[in-house]
Amino acid sequence: MMAEKMLKIEIDGRPVEVPHGATVMEAANQLGVYVPHFCYHKKLSIAANCRMCLVQVEKAPKPLPACATPVTDGMKVWTESDYARRAQRGVMEFLLINHPLDCPICDQGGECQLQDLAVGYGGSASRYEEAKRVVPHKTLGPLVAAEEMTRCIHCTRCVRFGQEIAGIMELGMTGRGEHSEILSFVGRSVDSELSGNMIDICPVGALTSRPFRYTARTWELARRKSVSPHCGLGSNLVVQTKHERVMRGPAMMPSLMRLTRSSRTAFSLPMSRTDVTPAATLSSALPCPMCPCISYMPGTSAPPSPSMTSSPSVIGPPVACTLAIRLP
Ligand code: SF4
Ligand code: FES
Repeated sequence: MMAEKMLKIEIDGRPVEVPHGATVMEAANQLGVYVPHFCYHKKLSIAANCRMCLVQVEKAPKPLPACATPVTDGMKVWTESDYARRAQRGVMEFLLINHPLDCPICDQGGECQLQDLAVGYGGSASRYEEAKRVVPHKTLGPLVAAEEMTRCIHCTRCVRFGQEIAGIMELGMTGRGEHSEILSFVGRSVDSELSGNMIDICPVGALTSRPFRYTARTWELARRKSVSPHCGLGSNLVVQTKHERVMRGPAMMPSLMRLTRSSRTAFSLPMSRTDVTPAATLSSALPCPMCPCISYMPGTSAPPSPSMTSSPSVIGPPVACTLAIRLP
């Protein structure tokens, strides 16, 4: 079998070889060059609707979106030239026109892609003096809050996640331009098994977690490794705690680009506001009789005795699993 011919490309003066069909964004990622983006996600289809990833490409008459531009042999790309930076700053200015800039009270503050990129690409003052648009809040159900849809930048990540990963079209976008809105189907809520991921995947604070809203700021939370209480495979996850209480279910780990964690796992822990048991007490805890996670008796600080562990009727297996949290 013939080896696949690799395409040679230069990004910011650095050569890289990528297979046919790769995009400029993928080539840049391979080189470790960061291209600012919102709508791009490695596990989702390309929408190219935020335009934040504009880069300069040799001989192209205008800046091109890195996420949707396929590599051609000999291509030369600049991601940080004056031309590219001006394009990226222009897009950021447009994105911020209608954004409410309510970072001080936003649940996403401190972990918001828009906030982070606005530091690097935003201006210190807005030239926009007209009235900003306001989008009425939506009721999407008990898990996903859409109370501040004015924050939405219409990246459609949430819509594509539903269609492509969860396999259920729970959200869609209606309207065009500044009349665009993210909506659920009339009279339907968003409550599928995977819908909690939409909160994690939203790059701004438009979709937030209803149980978590306004209970803590992200920088007050400690991250602790644990295992899924609802998964017979004992999937690893990270729970976020404040004052030794679980405040938030496992957030998607961006480094792993995980997208398929069940909402049952994501919401069961914060909804029960579980206390975290110190590592010392769990270090000798015995395995749960029902799944491969660590278990202990709810309401006690001591690990379960062998007799309790071997008696599911005493422990109540799923409850015991829900409280199983291991410190790193
Ligand atoms: S709600 Fe969030 S994920 Fe959905 S389109 Fe708006 S900004 Fe993107
Ligand atoms: S990341 Fe490329 S257009 Fe949004």
